[in-house]
Amino acid sequence: MTAATGQRWTLRGAHTEYTVTVPAHGRWLELVAWGPHGVSDGPSPVAYDGPVPFLTAGDAAPIEYATDADRPFTGADLVIETVDGKRRVGFVHTDARIDAYQRELAVDFVDPVTRLRATVHYRVPEGTDVVQRWVELSNDGTDELRVVRAGSGGFCVPTPHGALLSHQWGQWSQEFQLSHVELGHGTFGIGSSQGVPGHLHVPWLAVRDTAGPAGPAWGIALAWTGSWEIRAERDTGGLTRVRAGRQLVDGPLELAAGERLSLPVVTGAYSPDGLDGLARVWHTHQRLLAGDRLTDRPVLYNSWEATYFAVEAQSQLALARIAAELGVETFVVDDGWFVGRNDDTAGLGDWTPDPAKFPAGFDTFIAEVRALGLNFGLWVEPECVNPKSTLYAEHPDWVYAVDGRPLTPVRNQYLLDLGRPEVAEFVHSTVDGLLRRYDIDYLKWDFNRPRTEPGRPGGVGPLDLDGAHVANLHRIFERLRRDHPDVLIEACAGGGGRTDLAMAARADVFWPSDNTGPLDRLAIQYGFLHANAPHLLSSWVTDAPGLFDPRPRTLGFRFVLAMAGVLGIGADIRAWTPAERAEAAGWIARYKEIREIVTRGEVHLIGGPDQARCAVQYTAPDQRRVVVLAWHTGRLDGAGLLPSRPVRLPLRGLDPAARYSDGERHYSGSHLGGVGLPVQWSATHDADLIVLTRD
Ligand code: DGJ
Repeated sequence: MTAATGQRWTLRGAHTEYTVTVPAHGRWLELVAWGPHGVSDGPSPVAYDGPVPFLTAGDAAPIEYATDADRPFTGADLVIETVDGKRRVGFVHTDARIDAYQRELAVDFVDPVTRLRATVHYRVPEGTDVVQRWVELSNDGTDELRVVRAGSGGFCVPTPHGALLSHQWGQWSQEFQLSHVELGHGTFGIGSSQGVPGHLHVPWLAVRDTAGPAGPAWGIALAWTGSWEIRAERDTGGLTRVRAGRQLVDGPLELAAGERLSLPVVTGAYSPDGLDGLARVWHTHQRLLAGDRLTDRPVLYNSWEATYFAVEAQSQLALARIAAELGVETFVVDDGWFVGRNDDTAGLGDWTPDPAKFPAGFDTFIAEVRALGLNFGLWVEPECVNPKSTLYAEHPDWVYAVDGRPLTPVRNQYLLDLGRPEVAEFVHSTVDGLLRRYDIDYLKWDFNRPRTEPGRPGGVGPLDLDGAHVANLHRIFERLRRDHPDVLIEACAGGGGRTDLAMAARADVFWPSDNTGPLDRLAIQYGFLHANAPHLLSSWVTDAPGLFDPRPRTLGFRFVLAMAGVLGIGADIRAWTPAERAEAAGWIARYKEIREIVTRGEVHLIGGPDQARCAVQYTAPDQRRVVVLAWHTGRLDGAGLLPSRPVRLPLRGLDPAARYSDGERHYSGSHLGGVGLPVQWSATHDADLIVLTRD
């Protein structure tokens, strides 16, 4: 059956529309326009019209989901192979459905030769300016097929003067470094083959035209917690097409006759206001993903940097007592609480509290923490196992392995093959059991190594290990949340190695980096907030100079920095002086006053970590209060240095006619937006928390 072609459908977001059409030939779906309401009127800014010598029409067309038959030369999203190695699937449009609100669209295609069916899905969540896209494949033929490339879709962006791409790169302890690349022509690519989104790149990309960086910005982010790739290609006509999807590190996916396959959601975002505006579009989306779990996060204390593996009841209680006095609400015991875990060489897999460390019993210890008025949190890393553990002795076959090849330990540990049902059952029941057995309110779920081995013992290939691991991980998170709705889950992967949109929908908060050194952290958080909402940003005040960053900053700087998201303390507070504790208690009390605005407010990122001005503005949804967190990024005053000069922070999105007060001075909205909010720095005053109230 073929359907009428030439039809077009418009999806409507809060301020955005996304229009697609099936051209007269009916072979694919094309973008007409993506931008503000009304952008689809008139000629399409992305359509191609004319001869394409030495290319095919599909290579130049703004195709939404291209096979290798459609785009043989310039990059296909889907490549399918028959078992005898034949490629080139070519679709025919068969049907389409759109809902009455123009927020959900499904467009069907079938390949007449293989009988492969593809449905291209779109959804615009209500009140947002994002479009979620995914594809469902179904092998309706009689022969097995192999999916060689499994992209989720292509997004087309008009970049007539050149493409300005923004991306985030890094490494362990230096995640979320925001960088910009001008792409004249050719291809730019990022990805991960680690079985986890990874520290090296974030599955997030922003595209702007080089001629107007403060203007329209388009974003693409992938909801996939495994290996992935994003490629941007700018053609000679000025169109940038961004392909995003899984990276098939285990080889082609088998699609048996009658089998279906859902490819990950890839989400596009649009803002007329540059990268800063785009960040707000992502924030709105992630707040919606959080749903009724978008609550004010508790102020937590995490004992990792204070005691590392030397966890035992007395030292933890000493920390908990001080934490409670400071106003902390949740006390989290990190790595080191379970049997055999005295360093990182042993213990992972044996998730029983160490009786030597908690001689009165773990229940008693938790009860003592709770008696201080604190909630209790616990660290786990249930997907990993140390060779020195009972679990590994009993189930050496549970780890990823290639028969006959040595295993690759990373941080002295192996990775459990979560795709195996018995392993998934072990992981789920271990964590579920801990949550049922002990009075736990908060879980920090860590993951400290990538997957190196592309196989399972005795396994026959090819197997979709990546897909099976991710699917079970997601299921376990969903199940734990369903069965323990009051437990908050922090997702961590040796810092920020696992922060994608799929995890943003399943975890309550992310640990973005192990690096809490103030100036490094500022850059990390600045990048992070471009892609993630503040409720996901876990941040601790640690000791200075700390592990990573010897450049001194005040305690106030470190508090204001950690308040940009979810405030935590990770310092050895036993060593803090009474004055430091009093100061900390003051900051924590102030955070509790503003955290609702941090969690729900409209965020504006002002300046940057490498600029003289660096601040984050949070405007309350009712516009009555504005919180400004500002940091001095330069050299502090000192011998041979001139005193720091004041800066002015231009605030955004305020009512120019309204008046605002910081308790001492009054400003008009137009003054704050134009001249800016003055901040005076010195060696002892290197950060500010300013709350403006509308008169
Ligand atoms: C890596 C995490 O990022 C740290 O915060 C800490 O939990 C350690 N793992 C514990 O081993």
